[in-house]
Amino acid sequence: MAGKPWSGRFADRTDRRVEAFTESISFDRRLFQQDIRGSIAHARMLQTVGLLTPEECQQIERGLLEIQAEIEAGHFAFVQEREDVHMHIEAALIEKLGDTGRKLHTARSRNDQVVTGLKLWAREALDRVDGALERLQRALVDSARRHREVVLPGYTHLQRAQPVLAAHYFLAYVEKLERDRSRLADCRRRLNVLPLGAAALAGTSLPIDRQAVADALGFDGVAANSLDVSSDRDFAVETVFVLTMIAEHLAGWAEEWILWSTQEFGFLALPDAICTGSSIMPQKKNPDVLELIRGRSARVVGSLTTLLVLIKGLPMAYNRDLQEDKEPLFAAFDTVEACLELAAVVVEGASFRVDRIAERLDEGFLDATTLMEHLIALGVPQRTAHEVIGKLVGQCERRGLKRLADLTDAELAEADPRLGPEARGVLGVANAIRAFRSYGSTAPAEVDAQLARWTSRLHLAEGASPAGG
Ligand code: ARG
Repeated sequence: MAGKPWSGRFADRTDRRVEAFTESISFDRRLFQQDIRGSIAHARMLQTVGLLTPEECQQIERGLLEIQAEIEAGHFAFVQEREDVHMHIEAALIEKLGDTGRKLHTARSRNDQVVTGLKLWAREALDRVDGALERLQRALVDSARRHREVVLPGYTHLQRAQPVLAAHYFLAYVEKLERDRSRLADCRRRLNVLPLGAAALAGTSLPIDRQAVADALGFDGVAANSLDVSSDRDFAVETVFVLTMIAEHLAGWAEEWILWSTQEFGFLALPDAICTGSSIMPQKKNPDVLELIRGRSARVVGSLTTLLVLIKGLPMAYNRDLQEDKEPLFAAFDTVEACLELAAVVVEGASFRVDRIAERLDEGFLDATTLMEHLIALGVPQRTAHEVIGKLVGQCERRGLKRLADLTDAELAEADPRLGPEARGVLGVANAIRAFRSYGSTAPAEVDAQLARWTSRLHLAEGASPAGG
């Protein structure tokens, strides 16, 4: 063919090097189903408004479904001369149908077609990620129930701080993931507005019915400004931001569990099935899955950065730069989906080394804050109580005593006469845990209430799993 496909404007064909540089088929072919779904909805609408006859519409629909089957079966040839998935599918349709195929592109442009396909793809991917988040939440709640009786040292600055129930710890991640899910739902709501019919940038003079297309494709509404929507990639940036938050949540958790599975911590036992060995050190058992979950967050941050820089300074409306939106979007979804799946595998397979944790719970004065609060409850000003208990801790350290409970009644009373024998009721980790009471705290009753809330919210079967593990 002289010139370019479907163009009367050009006398010469495109330079091969330009084709190779500008193609997007190598990565946007994964939009083929979404493109075909969009085209079928578009064709049906064209028929209703009289721009296609019922026969033409039927032929187009059948042709598109055949093309879909060919692509799915791997019988479809992708070539560099046809820039993207949209041109491939349309060209194949024209090969099948001739003039009827040449009518499909009525009242649309690739600019609105691309963003429609991408939105449909992102919407599905977003729903998959939501499902994966829910599965991970379930695994975490299940662990919370399995470890309901286990007490952990809680850390701030990675220094021992106060005791927390293991269930409280697991539910902390459930909450973080719940915020991620709610952010995804927000993104989905803003994304779910139909671009198709915006055409190149200004709309069309043809009598189309955009609402009908929106209904057919499950969009909640029709974009009210054609200039805006044909160049809108906010949804891609926003979604990848949420994916970045998910990746960051997973990376923090992975880091923690890498530490917890060291000899030094000894809190966690990871099953062989998720660990790897060393080629030289026969004894090694490495938590590579967790390290890669931590490491892959870098890619997602990279995708977000790419998209943010990509849209910076773009004038209205479509600019070819926008073709660069797809790879980072796909990569971010692929990475986060894989990480979420593996995170659930790790959570399901890991168990706390309850005895190792319990052995050293007496270290680090985890009950000091509760003892201070005991004094506050007796009317001692907080600053004073803080000082009194701080001095007791200092005294213990100087004398090599591990626990505040190792001090005698006389020594406690000497520090403050209000520290009577009943103060022992909050000493020791088990007592300290029982002393908590505020909403959202690690108090057993509070944690049980939260566990019950999540159990019903995630439709898990009632009845706690046995403690320990
Ligand atoms: N392949 C391009 C993309 O994915 C579509 C180009 C649409 N419009 C244009 N005028 N070149 O963004």
